[in-house]
Amino acid sequence: MQKLDLGSEADSFAQGGNRLCFFHPMDAGKCVKTLRKDRSPELKQKEKGIKGWLKPLSSFDDNQQEYSTFLRIADIYGPQALQFIPRCYGMVATNHGPGLVTDLVRDFDGAISMTLKQYVWIHGNTPRVKNCIAAFQQAWETIGLPSRNLLLHNIVVQLTAEDTIQRLVVIDGLGWADVLPFGWWSRTLARAKAARKAERLTEAIEALLEIKRTNGDWGYHGWMEPAQRYAGVSTAPVATS
Ligand SMILES: Nc1ncnc2c1ncn2[C@@H]1O[C@H](COP(=O)(O)OP(=O)(O)O)[C@@H](O)[C@H]1O
Ligand SMILES: [Mg+2]
Repeated sequence: MQKLDLGSEADSFAQGGNRLCFFHPMDAGKCVKTLRKDRSPELKQKEKGIKGWLKPLSSFDDNQQEYSTFLRIADIYGPQALQFIPRCYGMVATNHGPGLVTDLVRDFDGAISMTLKQYVWIHGNTPRVKNCIAAFQQAWETIGLPSRNLLLHNIVVQLTAEDTIQRLVVIDGLGWADVLPFGWWSRTLARAKAARKAERLTEAIEALLEIKRTNGDWGYHGWMEPAQRYAGVSTAPVATS
């Protein structure tokens, strides 16, 4: 089978702790995520020592895990989930190994939407952010969507105008992390767990802003420079200095 050519690692538009994120070469509205070579399932299993050997190797493959989670969410929750997560188009063979294809979240001007972490770092906890977090928390709980701890760099803020947030989209960290994930079978339990995960966002935002106030360290993940966010967009803003 023909492999999708995603170019070199340096062509990825972003990297997380586990994966490289590439533009889909045939569709600007989609992205393809592949596993980082230095974070292979084998290495991750080894790092866990004896505990690691108790779990199958596939459980350390973030892409496969996320793909099954997307399928399960589509099956159980239907289209209502797509307000909060990208649509998934399945796995494809690529020159960087199996790639997971999903919608790439973009703003009104074509820029790749920035993470909630970056948005809050730049704009602060403004009334606009507060309203949008409150609406998200309520909807996330009502639907009872499955996630690990919701991290600010795994959520992107999609804008419909410079000053208008359309929605928050969770692009990583979906699925229940429990050994026995009863949340898949009980919607009441799922709602209670989802409420707790969403509530923690408020503290995470405060903690991030405290780091900024005290000139602390940004950390590793979740920042994209304008050149990365506007790569390939003809309306990219011109740098002024
Ligand atoms: N569908 C998407 N739309 C927009 N940006 C995305 C999307 N998926 C990932 N990103 C960007 O890429 C970064 C890394 O992706 P992520 O899926 O979190 O990788 P990892 O699984 O390695 O943590 C995110 O923090 C975000 O900035
Ligand atoms: Mg991530």
